[in-house]
Amino acid sequence: MSGTPSVARRAAGTTVSVRRGVLTVGRRARAAWRQSLRLRVVTTTMMLGLLVVSLLGAYLFNRIADGLTEQKIAASQYDARSQTRTVQASWDGSTAKTVEGLNMAARDIMGLIKSSDQASFGYVVMARGLNNTNPTILATAQSGSLGLSSVHRELREAVAKDPTRQQTQVTAVLLGGEQVLAVTVGSAVVVPSAGTYDLYFIYPMTREQQTMAFIQNSFLAAGIILTLLVGAVAWVVTRQVVTPVRRAAEVAGRLARGKLNERMPSHGEDDLALLATSFNAMADSLQSQIRQLEGLSRVQQRFVSDVSHELRTPLTTIRMAVDLIHESREGFDPTVARSAELLAGELDRFESLLADLLEISRFDAGAAALDIEPVDLRTCAERVVASAQPLAARRGSSVTVLPGERAEAEVDERRVERILRNLVVNAIEHGEGQPITVDLAAAHGAVSVVVEDHGVGLRPGEAMLVFNRFWRADPARARTTGGTGLGLAIALEDARLHNGWLQAWGQPGEGSRFRLTVPERSGGSIDRAPLPLEPAGMP
Ligand SMILES: Nc1ncnc2c1ncn2[C@@H]1O[C@H](COP(=O)(O)OP(=O)(O)OP(=O)(O)O)[C@@H](O)[C@H]1O
Ligand SMILES: [Mg+2]
Repeated sequence: MSGTPSVARRAAGTTVSVRRGVLTVGRRARAAWRQSLRLRVVTTTMMLGLLVVSLLGAYLFNRIADGLTEQKIAASQYDARSQTRTVQASWDGSTAKTVEGLNMAARDIMGLIKSSDQASFGYVVMARGLNNTNPTILATAQSGSLGLSSVHRELREAVAKDPTRQQTQVTAVLLGGEQVLAVTVGSAVVVPSAGTYDLYFIYPMTREQQTMAFIQNSFLAAGIILTLLVGAVAWVVTRQVVTPVRRAAEVAGRLARGKLNERMPSHGEDDLALLATSFNAMADSLQSQIRQLEGLSRVQQRFVSDVSHELRTPLTTIRMAVDLIHESREGFDPTVARSAELLAGELDRFESLLADLLEISRFDAGAAALDIEPVDLRTCAERVVASAQPLAARRGSSVTVLPGERAEAEVDERRVERILRNLVVNAIEHGEGQPITVDLAAAHGAVSVVVEDHGVGLRPGEAMLVFNRFWRADPARARTTGGTGLGLAIALEDARLHNGWLQAWGQPGEGSRFRLTVPERSGGSIDRAPLPLEPAGMP
């Protein structure tokens, strides 16, 4: 009793696993069908081949069967005709008068037929005709195991209706316990003083049926072999086409991965060679265009870097002159003094722009290197906030670092501080005087710093744009606030150097959040940030 449920459960488990197995096989087959052109071509060709072979086979088989049956019918009719003539002649020569005598004569005649017909063996039945009204009734005589029961009523009626003609029918008869097709030929003979009697010659088609079975088996075997051959041919042919296409796909993949020197081997003059030639021409053209672009961008980068460097020397001289003028502005008349102040301010902007440009060109040249050391990002953030206090005071906003634990990571302190300074200054400049918070957290091998303000915020799509070089939401306003639009571009490059993330979130009128995430260990990677990018309560 106690074993039954567990057995049932096991059985159910087996059914489930079998069903799962069938499902996976089905899924795999569907995937193979979708992915393999060759499988599809071979299968369809084999199916079509099978259809054609079956149709053709069925047609031929029917033709042969019909031919064999017709031949058998003709031979049977010929034989039956000559036998009937013999029987009629025997009856005509018979002198029997009594019923016994006539029955005896009938048996003799039947024996005669049987012995004379050795080659194409048939069965003979002699029965009283349906229209015979003669009072003398003879017993039904038969030469072998098949009797009157094997003769259809229809045939008997046909013979009765037209006794002068031979009637033929093909029916199944039971011979040795097996159903065998047989040709039955019926005709009438006149028995002296007993009236019309029917003679039925039954010719079983055993040999013909054997022949047909043999032909059928041969057709079946030939069909299977032919279908397999067609499949094999399709396999070989598609191989010739698919292999180069696959090779092209591989080469295209390698090209896409940046190996611009990859080419397809091309021989001959066929379509596939044409494909290879066109493919290679495309690769050549792509490669040369990419080289051109690379060259162009290298020239541009060098141009920026050279110009920035070249500007540095005259700028030092100008700086000294401007400082001199700025210091002695008290002695000038007010308009000139104002100009001197503006000049000094613009020069500050110019210098910072130049410094940013030089930094960017260092990133582009791949010359930026990290100076890694363990740094407490909280201390760093507090230092940045402290240095931004004068600006915050001028904008009327408060900046606070939310309390929390140390957040240590192996980073380049100068770069991280630069990122944080830009984030905090941006928050103050776009924060509309609202309070600004800086939050830090460390978890899952990463440290996050989130700078949040409640100012103008970002419009949809701008969260990606802010990191573009020279991008500013409002260029006119930025010109007065002094931004160049390079700060976040540099910050993003700095974050990337650390394998880190720099992301932005914002909503118009709600404010913005900028999150910097760096791995705790230098060279490590991040899969999750300890702090959310969106403010609490946002989807
Ligand atoms: N906290 C913020 N809220 C709203 N908009 C912001 C915020 N931070 C940056 N932006 C937008 O992104 C633009 C680009 O910022 P980014 O720091 O790169 O340049 P900048 O501050 O204008 O100049 P720079 O930092 O080079 O002096 C800004 O001009 C501003 O439009
Ligand atoms: Mg900025």
